[in-house]
Amino acid sequence: MNGRPENVSAYIAIAEKLFSSEKLPDGGRRVASRVFERLRTPSDDGARHDTRYPACDSLDAALAPFIGHDTLFGAAARAITALEPDLGWSRRSSGVNGSDNYIDAHVHGMICGPGGAESRYDVQLGFSLMLPHTRYPDHSHPPEEAYVLFTPGEFRQNGGDWIDPGIGGGIHNVRGNPHAMRSGATPFLAIWCLLTRDGD
Ligand SMILES: [Fe+2]
Repeated sequence: MNGRPENVSAYIAIAEKLFSSEKLPDGGRRVASRVFERLRTPSDDGARHDTRYPACDSLDAALAPFIGHDTLFGAAARAITALEPDLGWSRRSSGVNGSDNYIDAHVHGMICGPGGAESRYDVQLGFSLMLPHTRYPDHSHPPEEAYVLFTPGEFRQNGGDWIDPGIGGGIHNVRGNPHAMRSGATPFLAIWCLLTRDGD
């Protein structure tokens, strides 16, 4: 494709700023900068994972606390809302230590990446939404990844302690790094980007 829909461009520009925050680990900022470098070139094969899951209905509630804010989080929330009809949805149903309800209590939205609003295979740019009191299973994946947290929430890496990086902070997962996340009393929303290598 030659162009890129305005709503995708708008989200990418906001996300790039969020992933360049000093609150992120250096490695997270580095991998994100490589993702956004690739995203300078639009690429869309038209695949769309438009099947919806129960947690999709909680997107507005998760964004509500900051959608009106004059901040990057507010701008990102408004951009996600504008993209909502074009998002690619998925969820995990495997892995250990997930809370009993986790399958219906979470969903992933893909903006740039397989089946997303811009379907491509060299990067992934999207977000994870979890309902309150949800513990996502331990998992790992080949691509290197960075997260930025939009709400209260905690992460765990390599079976270590749970950490709360704070809103706007995040974590960096090297290739294959086991990790998990969990929500507290409020909905959890974190955005992520992954850098895919050939063969991943
Ligand atoms: Fe991950």
